Amino acid sequence: MFHLGWFLGNGFGIQAWSQTNGDGPWTGTNITDWTKPDLYQDLARGLDRAGFDYILIEDTAMVEDSYQGSADTSLRRGFMAPKNDPMPLVPLMTAASKNIGIIPTFSTIQYPPYMAARLGVTLDHLTEGRVGMNVVTSVTDRVAQNYGYEEHLAHDERYEMAMEWVDVVQQLQGSWLPGAVVADADGGVYADHTKVKPIDHVGKFFRSRGPLNTIPGPQGKVPICSAGSSEAGRTLAAMYDDTMIALAKTPESAKALREDMRARVAANGRNPDDFKIFFIVSPTIEDTDEHALEAAAKYKAYMASDKGVEYNLWNMSYTSGGRIDFGAIDPDTKVEDIDLSKQNGEYTSIEKLFENQEGRTLREVVADSFQINDLGFVGSPDTVAAKMGEFMDGVGGDGFLMYLPTTRHNIAKVADGLGPALRRRGLIREEYTGGSLRDNLLQF
Ligand SMILES: Cc1cc2nc3c(=O)[nH]c(=O)nc-3n(C[C@H](O)[C@H](O)[C@H](O)COP(=O)(O)O)c2cc1C
Repeated sequence: MFHLGWFLGNGFGIQAWSQTNGDGPWTGTNITDWTKPDLYQDLARGLDRAGFDYILIEDTAMVEDSYQGSADTSLRRGFMAPKNDPMPLVPLMTAASKNIGIIPTFSTIQYPPYMAARLGVTLDHLTEGRVGMNVVTSVTDRVAQNYGYEEHLAHDERYEMAMEWVDVVQQLQGSWLPGAVVADADGGVYADHTKVKPIDHVGKFFRSRGPLNTIPGPQGKVPICSAGSSEAGRTLAAMYDDTMIALAKTPESAKALREDMRARVAANGRNPDDFKIFFIVSPTIEDTDEHALEAAAKYKAYMASDKGVEYNLWNMSYTSGGRIDFGAIDPDTKVEDIDLSKQNGEYTSIEKLFENQEGRTLREVVADSFQINDLGFVGSPDTVAAKMGEFMDGVGGDGFLMYLPTTRHNIAKVADGLGPALRRRGLIREEYTGGSLRDNLLQF
């Protein structure tokens, strides 16, 4: 059996809305209604039916203008902007569903640890233990500049800061010891002050006295998720993650990453079975294999079109941390001649894109590859279910993170087509048996 997550890749932002963005015809009223809770509530309800562990809500707080030195492409095409704050959406999504966990993104440069610890615990109470925290360091200068930095910190320093950030958040979330809440109405005692401890943290990046001014939530320390696969990213994940999300193109590379991570988790004195890695995938699911192949070919043609190439180059400029304008590089340049030394964003994403592509031009590479791929999962629900099972057999565990345009059509394909097909094969949970996000992650 394996776990399932959904990547709400546009965050609480404008969801699939235009065929010219390659979104297909099933975009409903997203163009006007993306700011309302309904679509996200339908998503949570639908994926509950399919036994998903969680929905990960992406977040980035900026209007990017590194591509061609202008915000034109970002705003004309709605790339990563506009976007609302994801936090208020969390309890609305859990109130509309029964079991699925919701993991909003917390950037370590946007939330001081005390604020994050308190917000995480508050959400844990409001959702009755169904929240997690996706810890990111933020990718681009534009985000950093919105939060008072002149430019973003260097990649590895960001992770050093993130390590300290999670440590402080968890110290604060542990600052009420077991038994601190007495809640004795007859005796008139709410809490025992000897069990509520300041943390007096003074570190390189943060200072926080503590204790937290709220009581522990159902999960105690709120589960942690992260997505970095660089050396620094792995160090953070091995120390703190309950669930990690990762990119891999083959079962072999996924297996190697999982084994490396499990060894690192064990080296930190943790049980590797308490650490669940999810591999990101964009499957193409249609009623028949033939229709799925047609749909995949259509999407491929879109990615090779001017609009598709513009998206990919824009995305790479963002992914470089806003430090490399891929719109200013001659598209006929061979990829090995592109100087990546200035990049300061998502290291592994660009490396993966250029992996084994020597001799090809930038235009050729972006026309037929994208950082997140379908892993060959193209077909009817049953075919995709079988392929997912085979892939996971090769990896050894733990889950997949689905990344599809968020439309009701795609929700139905996954919740009512793929989910039941996976269940018939015994590949996903029949039902939820735990109460919290952590319980569900540890169910198998
Ligand atoms: C599936 C996925 C989701 C991510 N979500 C966010 C996000 O919401 N906000 C953000 O700033 N970065 C996000 N990132 C970026 C990661 O936090 C991290 O910077 C990136 O994976 C590169 O890490 P690395 O440099 O260790 O390879 C995401 C990455 C992946 C692969």
